[in-house]
Amino acid sequence: MLVSAAIALLWCAGVGADALKFPKPDRPVARIISPAYSTEDKRDRHGEAERVMDRLGVRTGLRVADLGAGDGYYTVRLSRRLGSRATVYAEDVEVEYLQRLRARLARDGITGVTLVHGTPANPKLPVASIDLAILSHMYHEIENPYEFMFRLRPALAPGGRVAIIDLDKPTGEHGTPPELLRCELAAVGYREVDVVSLAPADGYLAVFVPPASLQAPEAIRPCRQ
Ligand SMILES: C[S@@+](CC[C@H](N)C(=O)[O-])C[C@H]1O[C@@H](n2cnc3c(N)ncnc32)[C@H](O)[C@@H]1O
Repeated sequence: MLVSAAIALLWCAGVGADALKFPKPDRPVARIISPAYSTEDKRDRHGEAERVMDRLGVRTGLRVADLGAGDGYYTVRLSRRLGSRATVYAEDVEVEYLQRLRARLARDGITGVTLVHGTPANPKLPVASIDLAILSHMYHEIENPYEFMFRLRPALAPGGRVAIIDLDKPTGEHGTPPELLRCELAAVGYREVDVVSLAPADGYLAVFVPPASLQAPEAIRPCRQ
């Protein structure tokens, strides 16, 4: 069954949210253990962020959210590329990580980043506020990826995209096999439009476009690892 965009927006805002039942992922969910994937020096030596931002066409005017921002590896590089008048959201579920990131941004003189305290199931971004969501090394830590991707949908403006960076490893080992990722996102209606290895940096980048309208949560069929 398809539900209208208006109802989806109400759900995102929390109206009737408790009544919604999402299937659980049929695979392990990794524990949150760190606010960063690897060291930033090493990632930059391998050109990770530049490669990702170039591939995604990150340029002035694009509104971007770094979901599971942690220490802000992508937040600071996005902000530098987009400039101080940019729209950049940095979201995380851990208050302590957000506090560290706030201090880092102040120290580095980076302004214009909106910090958002999300919940495990909801990134809590304003409706139609972003053109691009980046989920870097965090997808495998989302407790319920079907619910998270469902609730992220209304935040994406027309033409919006979702970019996921992860390792090709089992979810219990802090990665997500690309076929599993494709299946889980397709279950919520997202369609993969690009996937590329980030070598010599670690992992891969997969890019998705959201569904025009969301299915009812009961219609979501979980994938197997
Ligand atoms: C390994 S760190 C990666 C940090 C950063 N994105 C990077 O690439 O270095 C994973 C981050 O995702 C956050 N996280 C885990 N589950 C989340 C969820 N459901 N919503 C938002 N953030 C989440 C964790 O708190 C942590 O900061």
